[in-house]
Amino acid sequence: MGSGNAAARTDVDAVVIGAGFSGLYMLHKLRDGLGLNVRVFEAGQGVGGVWYWNRYPGARCDSDAFVYCYSFDEQLLQDWTWSGKYPEQPEVLAYLEHVADRFDLLPDITFGTYVTAAEYDDATARWTVTTGAGEVVTAQFLITGIGHLAISKYVPEIPGLDTFAGDWYHTGGWPHEDVDLRGKRVGVIGTGSSGVQSIPVIAEQASHLTVFQRTPQYSVPARHETADEEFWREVKANYGEIWRRAKTSAGGFPWQHNGKRALEVSEQERLATYEALWAEGGIRFAVGSYRDLSYDDAANATVSDFIRDKIRQVVTDPETREKLIPTHPFMSRRPIVDTDYFETYNRDDVTLVDVRGTPIVEITPSGVRTSSAEYELDVLVFATGFDAVTGPYFNIDIRGRDGATLTKNWDAGPRAYLGLQTVDFPNMFMITGPGSTLGNLPNSIETHVEWIADCIDHMRRNGLTCIEATAEAQESWTDEVNTAAEASMFSRADSWVNGANIPGKARAYVFYFGHFGKFRQRCARVAGNGYEGFHLR
Ligand SMILES: Cc1cc2nc3c(=O)[nH]c(=O)nc-3n(C[C@H](O)[C@H](O)[C@H](O)COP(=O)(O)OP(=O)(O)OC[C@H]3O[C@@H](n4cnc5c(N)ncnc54)[C@H](O)[C@@H]3O)c2cc1C
Ligand SMILES: NC(=O)c1ccc[n+]([C@@H]2O[C@H](COP(=O)([O-])OP(=O)(O)OC[C@H]3O[C@@H](n4cnc5c(N)ncnc54)[C@H](OP(=O)(O)O)[C@@H]3O)[C@@H](O)[C@H]2O)c1
Repeated sequence: MGSGNAAARTDVDAVVIGAGFSGLYMLHKLRDGLGLNVRVFEAGQGVGGVWYWNRYPGARCDSDAFVYCYSFDEQLLQDWTWSGKYPEQPEVLAYLEHVADRFDLLPDITFGTYVTAAEYDDATARWTVTTGAGEVVTAQFLITGIGHLAISKYVPEIPGLDTFAGDWYHTGGWPHEDVDLRGKRVGVIGTGSSGVQSIPVIAEQASHLTVFQRTPQYSVPARHETADEEFWREVKANYGEIWRRAKTSAGGFPWQHNGKRALEVSEQERLATYEALWAEGGIRFAVGSYRDLSYDDAANATVSDFIRDKIRQVVTDPETREKLIPTHPFMSRRPIVDTDYFETYNRDDVTLVDVRGTPIVEITPSGVRTSSAEYELDVLVFATGFDAVTGPYFNIDIRGRDGATLTKNWDAGPRAYLGLQTVDFPNMFMITGPGSTLGNLPNSIETHVEWIADCIDHMRRNGLTCIEATAEAQESWTDEVNTAAEASMFSRADSWVNGANIPGKARAYVFYFGHFGKFRQRCARVAGNGYEGFHLR
């Protein structure tokens, strides 16, 4: 995929950075909906965002595919058929490539081009955007569709990595060609979603797999096989209702809790509820039972204990089993969905090393040395996550009004109004910027993209040239973000959602953990009230 005919235009209405779910839809809305001149810059050589970069073995979506897609085009929904419940990376990438073709988006995207800098000029209310290739483009609007994770891989600084004689990879930058792990001694560091997905598949290929685990994880079995032909017929016949439910739900999925509190029912009823959802598998287990699991410690303990028991039932070796039992509450980190994750530890050719108890000391030419042993490896895989949300922003030299920088404005943690705009950066919109919702991301992305397009339309119709969030609105929203996070399970554990995964990074909640449906309504109300909390001129 190469650059299209966009390359000639240097003064446009909008520059969009990124060609994942966010950038593709933003381009379609602005160009085809509003008739704007748009340039999209994408660092990768193709569309897809995280689905372009994350090609590690076992990579899949863990939002159910029937809602891990765009909802904006009914015919697209009817024409596209997913192969199963949680498709693998090549299929999600193929879907996004299909969308790009179908809506003829490629001509306006410049691939293989990293945006290095963007500077705002108050006199003209325009942005000057510079790319790594030296191209300079001006635009009234700068729109970041740079995602939370794609471009900011985190490789911990472990002494000796440069001496390692074997190959090493980060899951988020997996090579495009096949990596042959057959007959190799492989080590995986990290057991987040990427580790949990890749470990069973790597174990199938490697002669021996050593997993270096710092924090044990909860994970729910995916049960891909439950999405059969009848399931897909039902989905396609009911998409209207499915999206209505998803868009009014707490997390962007078309399921509700059962309205009850976990401790108001008998233990027998509670266990039966958990068992039924466990048998169904997937993310519904997390959102489809009791209403108070995500904010009440005692209620949460019932589901956390349930999963701990499930882990104990699967893993046969007593020592390995106990190392795998998480102590933090379920849902205090983003839930994980797996295929045969815990089962993999029953294999003779898989070793689990607890690096909380015996930390990694160094990487040697022949492997990894912990405080208690040395592990010989041919290949090392870093499933160590990302400098999430702020990382992709700090990688660009963005200068707002009077030279304001994000690195300075966000040094104590990112601040933004509704995740859409941040003070001092007029005419810059962020798609799912800090303080927006997590949950099922395509829904969050569509909410923001449609809001931004409507806002730009409003500005053009009313002869307005500039929009910026007010400091009061931003502060008040940041307070709401913090209050919602403190009330949720996410305040009970360290992870990338509060910046704790990166040494030295400011501790701050980067998402709004309130109700997604209400967040959508809030965004709509703000627009309906004449863009409350924004200054327009
Ligand atoms: C392996 C993996 C699986 C996931 N599965 C799910 C899931 O099942 N459900 C869910 O809801 N979410 C999931 N996510 C989260 C995922 O980030 C979102 O679902 C969604 O793909 C985000 O789309 P986006 O377009 O906003 O960002 P991205 O997909 O991150 O795309 C951003 C793009 O911007 C480009 N870019 C960034 N900076 C620059 C720059 N300076 N110049 C040029 N280009 C730049 C990047 O190259 C990238 O292609 C997953 C994430 C990962 C890593
Ligand atoms: N669809 C999917 O299923 C899917 C797949 C992949 C990614 N994602 C998305 O991407 C997010 C990030 O997932 P991720 O797994 O890539 O990253 P992650 O959740 O941040 O997990 C990183 C892992 O690396 C470990 N780690 C980090 N530094 C380490 C060190 N110095 N020594 C030892 N271990 C170290 C962490 O341990 P600690 O836990 O102790 O910090 C953790 O186990 C997910 O939460 C999800 O939103 C989704």
